[in-house]
Amino acid sequence: MITPMPSKARSPRFAKQPAEVSQRFTASVGFDWRLLPYDIEGSLAHARMLVHQGIVSEEEGALLQAGLERIREKWQNGSLEPRIDWEDVHMNVEGRLYEEIGPVAGKLHTARSRNDQVALDMHLYLRDVATRMEGGLVQLLGVLLDRAETDFDVIIPGYTHLQAAQPVLLAHHWLAYVAMLERDRERLADWQRRLNRSPLGAGALAGTPYPTDPSYTAQLLGFADVYTNSLDAVSDRDFLIEWLAWAAILGMHLSRLGEELVLWSSQEFGYIRMDDAYATGSSMMPQKKNPDVAELMRGKSGRLIGHLVGLLTVMKGLPLAYHSDMQEDKEAVFDVVDTLDALLPVAAGMLESLTVRREVLEMRLGRDFSAATDLADLLVKAGMPFREAHHRVGQLVARLESGGRNFEQLSAEEVKEFLPGLGPEDVAALRPEALVKARRQPLGTAPEAVSAQIRKARDRLRTSTLD
Ligand code: ARG
Repeated sequence: MITPMPSKARSPRFAKQPAEVSQRFTASVGFDWRLLPYDIEGSLAHARMLVHQGIVSEEEGALLQAGLERIREKWQNGSLEPRIDWEDVHMNVEGRLYEEIGPVAGKLHTARSRNDQVALDMHLYLRDVATRMEGGLVQLLGVLLDRAETDFDVIIPGYTHLQAAQPVLLAHHWLAYVAMLERDRERLADWQRRLNRSPLGAGALAGTPYPTDPSYTAQLLGFADVYTNSLDAVSDRDFLIEWLAWAAILGMHLSRLGEELVLWSSQEFGYIRMDDAYATGSSMMPQKKNPDVAELMRGKSGRLIGHLVGLLTVMKGLPLAYHSDMQEDKEAVFDVVDTLDALLPVAAGMLESLTVRREVLEMRLGRDFSAATDLADLLVKAGMPFREAHHRVGQLVARLESGGRNFEQLSAEEVKEFLPGLGPEDVAALRPEALVKARRQPLGTAPEAVSAQIRKARDRLRTSTLD
C-alpha cells in the first residue's frame, strides 16, 4: 500500500499530529507555491546526480524524472492543488510524487535537506526574476531616452531647494533619471554574479555522508559555482537582502520621479499634462484629474523599503545555521517582485504618454531670476571679483522682486548703477537658450553635451549586462 505524505515525513518520534493552529501557522505552501517549477528543476538535477553517483539506480532515476515531469505538467495546466497539511511546496512535490510513482518517491530526498533545497529554489526563482527586471529597466530607459529626444528643445527651470535655480534642458533632466536607472542596471548585474552559486549539497547544515557531487548539480542547473561553506549555504540570505536593497533603491528613484511628476502635473506648476489613460477622477469633485499612477509610484517605495528593513531585522540575531525565521523571507521577496512587475511597465506607459506644456514653461522661464548667476559672471568678465558681483546682482534682484519686475524690465539707469561695465544688450542676451548653451562640459546641459549623452546611453542600452 502506498503511504501518502506527510505521515512518513513526520518522524515517528512525534506522538501526535500537529495542532491545526500550529499547522496553519507554520505552513508556507500558501505563498511558496510559486516556487514549484523551480523546486522540480532542482529535484530533477538532484535525481540525475544521485544516478550519476550511483546513489540510486538508473531505473529509479527514470521513475523519479517521469514523476516530477508529470507533476510539473499538472501544475502548469492548473490541476494541482496545494495541500496545507503538507506544509510547504517541497513536501507537496514529494507527496504528489508518491501519488505518481509510489514508494520510490521516498528516494528523492536522499542526501538533501529542505534547507539546501529551499535556498536553491530561491536562487533559481530569482535568476528568472533578474532577467525579467533587466527587461523592465531596459524598457523604461528606452522610454526616458525617447522622451529626451522628443523634448530636446524644451527648457525648464532647474531647481535646488525646490527654488528655480538655473535653466536646463528637459532632456537633461530626463537623463538624470536615465543615469539612476543605469546604476540600477549595473547593480542588478553585479548582484546576479553572486546569485550564480548553488547551495545544493549542503544538506541540512554540514554536507552529507553520501558521495554526492554538488558541482555536478550546479553545472546541470547552469550555476557558475557552488557555495564554499555548507553552514553558510543553508543560512545565507544575503542574496535576498541584496535583492530587496536593490529594489528599495530602484523604488526610491521611481518615487523621486513620481513626486516630480505629481508636482509638475499640479495646476501650480502646470509643466505637464498626464494622459487620461494614466489619470483618475475623484468620486466627489468632478473637476479633478489625479495623477494616481505617479502617486503610487512614489507610494510603493514604502513597502519596498519596508521589506528590506523587515528581512534585515529577521536575520540580524540568528545564530548559524537554518531557522524557521528564514521562511519569512518569501512573502517579502515575492511582494517586491510583484510590485516591480506592476510598477515598471506602468511607469513606462505614463512617461511615454504625458504631454509637456511648452507654453507654460516658456512663460515661467521669462519670469524667474534664473539668469542671475550668469549676470554675475558677466560682471566678473568685466573685471569684478565674483563675490562683489554676487552681492550686486543680489541687490538688483531684491529691488526688482519688490516691484514685481524681472531682468528684462531693467531701465538703462539701473543697468548703469548696478551693473558697471554692462549695457542693456548684455542683459537682454541672457535668454534661457543662451544660458543653457553656455554649459558645455560633457556632463552639462548644453544641447551638444546632452545629445552626446543620449547617444552614449543608447549605445549602453543595446548591450546586455546580465551574464
Ligand atoms: N518552508 C521552509 C522555508 O521556506 C523550507 C525549509 C524548511 N526547513 C526546515 N527544516 N523546516 O524556509
